[in-house]
Amino acid sequence: MTFAQSLSDAARLTEATLAHLLAEKTLMGEAPEAQAGRLIAAMRHAVLGGGKRVRPLLVIESAALFGVTAVQAAATAAALELVHCYSLAHDDLPAMDNDELRRGQPTVWKAYDEWTAILAGDGLLTLAFDLLARPETHPDADVRVALVGALARASGAAGMVGGQALDLMADKLGDPERPTIEHIRQLQAMKTGALLVFACEAGAILGRASDVERRALVDFGAALGFAFQIADDLLDAEGDVATVGKAVAKDAAANKATLVSLMGIAEAKAMLARTEAAANDALALFGAKADVLREAARFVVNRKS
Ligand code: IPE
Ligand code: IPE
Ligand code: MG
Ligand code: MG
Ligand code: MG
Repeated sequence: MTFAQSLSDAARLTEATLAHLLAEKTLMGEAPEAQAGRLIAAMRHAVLGGGKRVRPLLVIESAALFGVTAVQAAATAAALELVHCYSLAHDDLPAMDNDELRRGQPTVWKAYDEWTAILAGDGLLTLAFDLLARPETHPDADVRVALVGALARASGAAGMVGGQALDLMADKLGDPERPTIEHIRQLQAMKTGALLVFACEAGAILGRASDVERRALVDFGAALGFAFQIADDLLDAEGDVATVGKAVAKDAAANKATLVSLMGIAEAKAMLARTEAAANDALALFGAKADVLREAARFVVNRKS
């Protein structure tokens, strides 16, 4: 199977799980259907309108290292994608990045309005944990609790939310001093890296991997997360809006400190190549079994959208 097929299989399975979940009659409790429609439609818009589905692929492929099937990993992959899509719906809000285009479509606040985008994001975040707690996610309650704890930490103040706060603090309040490369690395590890680390670690949790195997996947996820955000910042600097599907050239216009702005494009690309090598090194103990994860790292580094 080619990498493109692995990615499209993971995307199809995850999207089927998400579509099913977001069609549940009870999603908004007993609220009358006519009024419930708007919130649910906004949640569906945030989740089902495209996206590369890289995080679900990573969950499914890291779980596969331990003999967990894609079907068995699908609910966890879907839960992570719900958190990711909520983070994007909020990231695009006028109070944050003020973006109107996402995945080639209007952002959630643009298609609906701000309060709906905020509530749709809140609904997606909480739905993720509802899903993880369900017995169909994993028959063993201890595994489910481990997944809930790990995703909560990756999403919250020590992870994505904290990273977003550091990122916006610089934008909105102005930096007291020029940020260092180390500061940006830390910020990006939280903002982008934490959910990608969870994607890889979730496979180890689902597969009840050894500590050494779990550590290797965490190290891989951390390197991949770093590569992911350098690639995102390079796309902002060099990509075109039609291919990327979201606004570009925003970081430079906002005079935002990123690794690209601090190091320059050539040095950022060299750092990206070194980071891919580090990601691959972390997978050494899995041998050829981890080839799809190596290709995922390649994909993240070379992506054009
Ligand atoms: C975009 O993530 C936000 C960042 C963390 C840089 P993706 O590039 O994975 O977005 P989609 O899901 O494919 O749209
Ligand atoms: C945000 O990073 C990543 C999130 C945690 C949502 P960016 O603001 O750079 O992501 P894009 O470029 O809007 O996708
Ligand atoms: Mg942002
Ligand atoms: Mg943004
Ligand atoms: Mg960006």
